[in-house]
Amino acid sequence: MRTRCWLRTSNSTSSPQLTDADLMAAGLPVGARKRLLEAIERFCDDQDTEMPSISQPTVPVTEPPVEAERRQLTVLFSDVVGSTHLAETLDAEDLRSLLLSFQKVCAEVVQRREGQIGLFIGDGVTAYFGYPRAHEDSAQRAVQAGLDIMAGLTELGTDGLEARCGVHTGPVVIGELGVGEKRLCDRIVGEAPNIAARLQAFAPPGSLVMSEATLRLVEGFFEVDPLGPQMLKGVSAPIAIYRVLRASAAPNRFEARSGQSLTPLVGRETELGFLTRRWENAMEGEGQAVLLQGEAGIGKSRLLQTLRMQLREVPHTEIIFYCSPQHQTSALWPAIQHLHRALGFAGEKDDVAGRERLRHFLGDLDLDSADLVEPLATLLGFPSDPGWNTGPADPEHVRRAVFAALSRLTFAVQRRNPVLVVVEDAHWIDPSTTELVGQMLTDMASQRLFVLLTARPEFRAPWSNSSPMVTLPLARLSRRETEAMIRGVAPYDLPAAMLAQLVAKTDGVPLFIEELTKSVAESRSNLGFGAVIEIPATLQAALHARLDRLAPIRQIIQVAALLGRVFDADLLIAVGQRDAAAVKRALHDLIEAELIYPRKNPHCRRPTI
Ligand SMILES: Nc1ncnc2c1ncn2[C@@H]1O[C@H](COP(=O)(O)OP(=O)(O)OP(=O)(O)O)[C@@H](O)[C@H]1O
Ligand SMILES: [Mg+2]
Repeated sequence: MRTRCWLRTSNSTSSPQLTDADLMAAGLPVGARKRLLEAIERFCDDQDTEMPSISQPTVPVTEPPVEAERRQLTVLFSDVVGSTHLAETLDAEDLRSLLLSFQKVCAEVVQRREGQIGLFIGDGVTAYFGYPRAHEDSAQRAVQAGLDIMAGLTELGTDGLEARCGVHTGPVVIGELGVGEKRLCDRIVGEAPNIAARLQAFAPPGSLVMSEATLRLVEGFFEVDPLGPQMLKGVSAPIAIYRVLRASAAPNRFEARSGQSLTPLVGRETELGFLTRRWENAMEGEGQAVLLQGEAGIGKSRLLQTLRMQLREVPHTEIIFYCSPQHQTSALWPAIQHLHRALGFAGEKDDVAGRERLRHFLGDLDLDSADLVEPLATLLGFPSDPGWNTGPADPEHVRRAVFAALSRLTFAVQRRNPVLVVVEDAHWIDPSTTELVGQMLTDMASQRLFVLLTARPEFRAPWSNSSPMVTLPLARLSRRETEAMIRGVAPYDLPAAMLAQLVAKTDGVPLFIEELTKSVAESRSNLGFGAVIEIPATLQAALHARLDRLAPIRQIIQVAALLGRVFDADLLIAVGQRDAAAVKRALHDLIEAELIYPRKNPHCRRPTI
């Protein structure tokens, strides 16, 4: 009965509570709206024949439905510098081949960063990041792609070919436009492409400019120079813009924000105590391995950072492998980055000085023999000594030598000091690093080695069961801890109703607590009863990325979302227009992905979710 009341107003006989306009506002395309309204109609008829009928959607049915969806999109616009002048001075054939070279570089870079080319118009290229597949780091990918394009053009060395880029993030609607044969799919409607195109005009040749909206999503990942608020043609208010100088060394979101003050730590005493005891065992020469596992934003990196702070005064060496979503197929990328940091490289690529630095580093550990220097130099991309590995290049031989060198290096370090090996975000680990970590786990029994991995729930440790690894699951914060955290984040006291809403909406996930509280506190305007909390831009990409991975059951998710934060599984089956088994499988996938949770409802025989 509760359901029926929700679907229709109790005192109305003519209008349903849930209208086509409501569904449209919820971002559902026409087809889905129509199906849902029809299904609700049937469901209500089955339940209560006296119910008034639900109004039909008003969309004409002569054309197939126009599907569209709302998204947060980061748009990269890149434009050839001085194209008018080039057109005047170059022969048309030469101009064409110049533009083709530019477009090729753009296409290759955008594909590598998993964006999508939208349009090649004349001497400009528009690329989208966040559609058709969202990544939680879409904005970062877009900015990095812009920098890569410029680097690619420099490498190409074509005389007179230079570009500038603009990047902006904003809400858009993506879908079909046009009528009949002229109907086109994947059209973007929204300001973002326009603003990105306008922004590039502010960039000096060979550089990239981004808006504040994008900066908020990539803060800490790039070094920037503020260019102040600027008026853009066709945009009513000034927009603060930033020139991107270069990528920073930050390996992940947590480290990128390390410049900002941290929310005071809440809870986690038990977990910290557990890790500390394991560390103490490792110090005694009983190698330990722990997998710290939990959903995105639950606080894995924060707990790790707290442990590292606690060990600051204890003599030990850290080896940190940061796995990255953009380098899941680059062999040993996390180890290479670690060596760069350990050797103090800051992006320079002086082969001779680099080799020398490596030799010194290994010399300090009495390891400067050629069988160590050469494989590691190869790993770091320095040309190898002609005396080493003579004969036809044998990749397998090189690979084995690199692995042996890394193992010996870890062993030598741990002879001097206990070693903390961290593998951050192991769900993005590449196969070679997996092998390297597996080797460490096999060899660690009597070493002063503590291997600590962090990973999201989807990660399945690929090492054999005999590997002595313990999993430490990280749970959501309790209500009391959530309230304490909200108070720690909000710069002033929030009204009780808003505090209660934040507790309910953030579900004890620290990242959500931080981001939602910040965005609510910033808005200041409507904090009272009935205020609507919107999903901040900083969480949208992560949410879409999770939903995109579940694309086949997207429609079921949309319908479930419409049913409310708590919904009844039977109702979803009834209105979803899919067979019960498919909906149950979808619910299972959603529970696995930790997007929904089953609940026991004492007032209801059926499961609510
Ligand atoms: N117990 C806590 N008390 C206060 N703040 C916390 C706590 N746990 C996490 N945070 C904060 O919440 C944010 C998200 O945490 P963190 O980055 O550690 O999550 P994560 O599990 O590593 O997520 P991801 O899987 O995306 O890397 C950080 O800003 C962190 O400082
Ligand atoms: Mg983390």
